[in-house]
Amino acid sequence: MQSIFYLNRIRFINVLLLLAILAYGCSNDDDPSPDVVTPEEPKPTATILKDKARFGIGAAITATQLNESAFASTLSGHFNQITAEYEMKMAKIWSSENSFNWTNGDALVDFAKQKGMKVHGHALVWYNSMPEWFKNANYDTLTYEAKVKDYITTTVKHYKDKGNVVSWDVANEIFSEDGTMRVEGVINGKFNDPIAFYGRCFQYVRDVDPNVKLFYNDYNVVLNSAKRAGIIKLVKRFQKDGYPIDGIGDQFHYTVTTSKEVMKTGLNDMASTGLLVHISELDLRVNVQKADDYLFTNSEKAIQSQAYQSIVEMYEALPDKQKFAITLWGVTDKYTWLTGWWHPKEYPLLFDSNFNKKPAYDGFLKGLK
Ligand code: XIL
Repeated sequence: MQSIFYLNRIRFINVLLLLAILAYGCSNDDDPSPDVVTPEEPKPTATILKDKARFGIGAAITATQLNESAFASTLSGHFNQITAEYEMKMAKIWSSENSFNWTNGDALVDFAKQKGMKVHGHALVWYNSMPEWFKNANYDTLTYEAKVKDYITTTVKHYKDKGNVVSWDVANEIFSEDGTMRVEGVINGKFNDPIAFYGRCFQYVRDVDPNVKLFYNDYNVVLNSAKRAGIIKLVKRFQKDGYPIDGIGDQFHYTVTTSKEVMKTGLNDMASTGLLVHISELDLRVNVQKADDYLFTNSEKAIQSQAYQSIVEMYEALPDKQKFAITLWGVTDKYTWLTGWWHPKEYPLLFDSNFNKKPAYDGFLKGLK
C-alpha cells in the first residue's frame, strides 16, 4: 500500500517535471538555438553534400573560374573547402628568388573566407612544380635547402595570416610505384638522405603554424601496396625521428572500373597509421578505353554514380576522427583537367557542363552516413 502511494508520488513528480520542461520550451520561442544545425550536427536527410557530411567536402578550382557566377554559386552551395588546382604551387607563386606572386592564390583564399569555406594548401614541395629559375640555379645542397625553407616559411606565413588555410600538402609524389624514392632529377638526388630533408620541410611548416595539418600526398596509394608500404615507412620514420605529420592523401584519380575491394584494403591500410586520411583529388574516369565515339549514356551515368557511392561508403567506414575530407578535382565536367590529360570525351565529376547535378552527385550523397 505504502509502495503504491510512493509510486504514485514519483509519477506525479515526473508529470510535474514534464510540464515544467514543456512550459520552459514554449516560453523560449525567441531562442533559436535548438533549431540551428551547425556543420558539426549534420542532418542525415540533408540533400546538399556539405550539409550532410561530417567531414570536409572540397573542390579544386582556379581563380578565373570564380568569375563565372554559376560556377561560384555551385562551389559555395555544395562544397565547404577549396584546393587550388595549381595557383598555390611553387612554380606559380615563386616567380624569382625574391618575389612571390600571391594574386590568384589570394583571390581563391579570399573567396573561400567570404563564403565561410576552408582551404587545403597544395602543394609546397613537388618535383613537378619547381620554378625553372630555381631548377637552373645550381645551388649546393645547403643553399638549396635554405632556399626551400625560405619559400615554405614565407608561403605558409602568408596564408596563415588569412585564417582559413587549415592544411597543406607539404610533399607531393615522392615515391615510385615500387615504394622506392622516385628518380626525378630535381630534389631527391641532392640529398644523401632525402626522407630526412622532407622531414625537415614538414618541420619548417610546423615552426610557422602550430595548428595547420600537415599531409603527405601521392597517387595510387590505395591501389599499390608497394608504394603504400614506402609511404607508411616514411610515416614511421618521421614519428621515430620526431618530424611532424598529421595525414596522408591519396589523390584518387581512378576510373569507374577500379576495384573497390582493392581500394578498401588500401584505405584501411592508410588508416592503420592512425593519421588523418584525405581523398585529395577525386575524379572517376568513365571513358576508360579512350574511345573517340564514347557516349556518356544513362547506364554509364548510373555506373559512375554507383562507383562514387562505394568510395564514399568505404571512406565513411573509417574511424570518424581520421576522416579529414573528400576533395573533388574540379566542380564541373566543363573544366576537368582530364579532357586534356586523358581524352576529350571525359565526364569525371559531380556536375555536368551546365552545372546540373549528375547521378554521380546523388551517388556521393547516398554514400554519406
Ligand atoms: C594538375 C592540374 O589539374 C593541371 O591543371 C595542371 O596543369 C597540372 O597539375 N596530381 C596533383 C595535382 O597533385 O597537382 C595535379 O594537378 C594532378 C595530379
